[in-house]
Amino acid sequence: MKKTFALLLAAIMMLALLTACGGGDKPADTTPPADTSAPADTGSDAAPEAPAAGGNIGVCIYKFDDAFMTTYRNALQEILEGKGYQVTVVDGNNDQAKQNEQINTFITQGVDALIINPVMTSAADTIIATVKSAGIPTVLINREPTADQMAAYDKLVYVGALAAQSGTMQGELILDTPNQGDINGDGKISYIMIQGDPENIDAQLRTEYSVKALTDAGKEVEQLNLTRGDWDREKGQTICANDLAQFGDKIEVVFCNNDDMAIGALQAIQSAGRKVNEDIYLVGVDALDAALNEVKAGNMTGTVLNDAVGQATGAVAEMEKLLGGATYASGSQSVYIDYVKVTPDNVGDFMK
Ligand code: BGC
Repeated sequence: MKKTFALLLAAIMMLALLTACGGGDKPADTTPPADTSAPADTGSDAAPEAPAAGGNIGVCIYKFDDAFMTTYRNALQEILEGKGYQVTVVDGNNDQAKQNEQINTFITQGVDALIINPVMTSAADTIIATVKSAGIPTVLINREPTADQMAAYDKLVYVGALAAQSGTMQGELILDTPNQGDINGDGKISYIMIQGDPENIDAQLRTEYSVKALTDAGKEVEQLNLTRGDWDREKGQTICANDLAQFGDKIEVVFCNNDDMAIGALQAIQSAGRKVNEDIYLVGVDALDAALNEVKAGNMTGTVLNDAVGQATGAVAEMEKLLGGATYASGSQSVYIDYVKVTPDNVGDFMK
């Protein structure tokens, strides 16, 4: 009697464990299709309830010393831990070889899923081959590989945002100013571009689409300089200071691929005695707290919300779909969270 009871108990516990872990090896045809149809789907509403099973999740961040990724990783950690997962977040120190080792270590430790912010987009093939051969469900974030690269593994999904959209919004912020960016009235918008890491598609597309928004609106543009600032505040400051020394009043618009560089550029603008929104315009992307304060104070023309919390929520939702057995068809392995334009009019909505 006692033995039967013990066996029954063991069977119940086993069943509970299997359910909590997402059912173990499900045959392919019972796999629920991933809902990746809506481009602006945050994934959050479509996600199944978290199993809160205490699964082990490895999170690889390209480098901790990045303002936007700091907000993002803190959000990720909070959401995952809030759902009962054991989370280990590691710093790739901007070194792809180091990140590859970290991924291998996580695999050896037997993590249930990985969330990876690649150091180099060009390393995507290697990363995907590694997680595929280990069979680890993986969510890539922030640095988007091509659809073809992702097609190699059906337990892989990318969660991010459409970089072109943020570039277009930056251009629109300039078009929304009283003189549409042409402060000196010479018929053209003269700008400098402070670019992120050009290896990154966010840097490439923001650079292209911010200016395209101006030319699409029929504006003449003049690029005085384009310099890579690698997403870094200090580099943003140095580049902007050099450009102000070289081009002076000719500069009407400072486009920065992200807010951290824009905050640096603002320091240079202020030291040069220039006044944002009066004799120069300045726009960034991310909506970091520091940038929101500057937009509110009139020291930045605007920024674009790069929704770290929305993307972290989406990444966890997609991870849970993968843990539940979902697979992704090639061509629908990207989930995008919308960017939002931030101006002095709506900045209060984004401040905590
Ligand atoms: C953000 C940057 C950040 C970069 C890191 C971009 O989406 O706008 O601030 O440095 O991601 O990859």
